[in-house]
Amino acid sequence: MVKKIDIYKKCWCNSGKSYKNCHMTFDLKVESQAKKLNALVPTRRMIKTEKDIEGIKKAAAINNGLLDMVEERIKEGISTLEIDNWCVEYLKEHHAHSADFNYQGYPKSICTSINDVICHGIPNEKDILKNGDIINVDVTTEYKGYYADASRMFMIGQVSLEAERLVLATKECLNIGMAQIKPFESQVRDIGIAIEKYAHSMGYSVVEEYCGHGVGYKMHEDPFVLHYANYNPSYLLVPGMVITIEPMINEGVKGIRFKEGDTWSSYTKDGKLSSQWEHTIVVTEDGYEILSK
Ligand code: MF3
Ligand code: CO
Ligand code: CO
Repeated sequence: MVKKIDIYKKCWCNSGKSYKNCHMTFDLKVESQAKKLNALVPTRRMIKTEKDIEGIKKAAAINNGLLDMVEERIKEGISTLEIDNWCVEYLKEHHAHSADFNYQGYPKSICTSINDVICHGIPNEKDILKNGDIINVDVTTEYKGYYADASRMFMIGQVSLEAERLVLATKECLNIGMAQIKPFESQVRDIGIAIEKYAHSMGYSVVEEYCGHGVGYKMHEDPFVLHYANYNPSYLLVPGMVITIEPMINEGVKGIRFKEGDTWSSYTKDGKLSSQWEHTIVVTEDGYEILSK
């Protein structure tokens, strides 16, 4: 016997409405579009409710305020440990927490990645910012059980034209990635395909070892958001999905390496520059909204 779905039962999203009057039409559309586009059907956990999105927005607002605060103060002569201290203080004042702190043993509250550090640079008193440095500051804020994740590049004093070109092109990679979000009409892989194409057109390489991710109930959730081209079927992009896009773009060769005594900070293989920008984004009915802005 075929099991009939009870369309009068309560919807899976906890709205209290019947399935028929809530997500039924949505689910049918997701399934038919996924089939049409040879994409995967997002899991329910990937689709956040209105209430969840409100919560994530609050975490994102604090995360943004923190990055604005860093942007105002960051300058030549300060150490990355000082930046971490500012952030610890800021989060405390806002009754929020760093999701980075103690994440798989990570020792600090933010990541500070200078020049040839690709990501996960650990704040410390010895790294003093100098004129011409480029630095990424990345933080994930947890507020009342919801998470938002973002990072920005900062150029210290007068940077080289090459460095500036890389930083701007990386931001463009993020913008191009976001522009691929077409609810019910595109899938996660389209983001990476477009980013890689642009990065290569600029003569840069894309870091493949780290990727964007779902975010909201935790810092890292499904789906993975690759920043390079991979043509395997990926999840259909549908309203309610909250993801990060966070391309790491290298001036020179791709690939990563580590230095002795630090299993976190990843470096470019050739010592050339690397840059990264990250946004938390919610897919909406007609496009997307950037939460980390
Ligand atoms: N914020 C990083 C990301 O964009 C994750 C940092 S994990 C840490 O996904 F432990 F290194 F902080
Ligand atoms: Co992230
Ligand atoms: Co991040």
